[in-house]
Amino acid sequence: MPRKNIVILISGRGSNMEAIVRAAREQDWDSACNARIAAVISNRPGAAGLAIAAQHGIATAELDHRSFADRAAFDAALAQLIDGYEPTLVVLAGFMRVLTPGFVMHYEGRMVNIHPSLLPAFTGLHTHERALEAGVKLHGATVHYVTAELDHGPIVAQAAVPVLPGDTPDDLAARVLAQEHRMYPAAVRRIVDGRVVLDDGVAVHRDGAPSVFLGDFASH
Ligand code: GRF
Repeated sequence: MPRKNIVILISGRGSNMEAIVRAAREQDWDSACNARIAAVISNRPGAAGLAIAAQHGIATAELDHRSFADRAAFDAALAQLIDGYEPTLVVLAGFMRVLTPGFVMHYEGRMVNIHPSLLPAFTGLHTHERALEAGVKLHGATVHYVTAELDHGPIVAQAAVPVLPGDTPDDLAARVLAQEHRMYPAAVRRIVDGRVVLDDGVAVHRDGAPSVFLGDFASH
């Protein structure tokens, strides 16, 4: 059986990428599900996550979007770079670029993203500030397949945390991020294992395993 290659795209610190890399190593995805992290690619040269990936012995690449004439030219070069690794799954982990419809279509059903809100609430940026402003009592993060519409697409898993009195956006971001680090590796593994399938635009977990991750509600 051909090996399942995972390509991770980042733009910054890469903590979700690192969580996936650690899980892959600790759970020996290579033997357990014939999968490996083939490469980590950043659109920002010098992104902190690249050094982390390199420390783990993973191939890294930089593709600076500023050196391309337009979005389409960047996306075409990015797709060529990604496809060199023959990916089963493309994982967006803090990849801060709006993608062209052609790019999204090329990876339809094999590209996922993590967004720091309980979608469909708070698409876009500054989700933690906006959650506090809205006064929601429950916040979190979502792993979803990528479709042409920003921060939409079939939901694979969601992680929920309480919003606590006196929270700052940073407090809330940290509480959500801790759950992202649990959820994203688990979701990626389930997908490469073939345990998540897309059925008429809905992500279905074939073995009925939970797709909900809960933070610590005990103190609430
Ligand atoms: C995370 O909050 C993720 O949900 C969002 O961007 C942030 C990336 O953080 N898409 P990191 O680079 O994985 O540390």
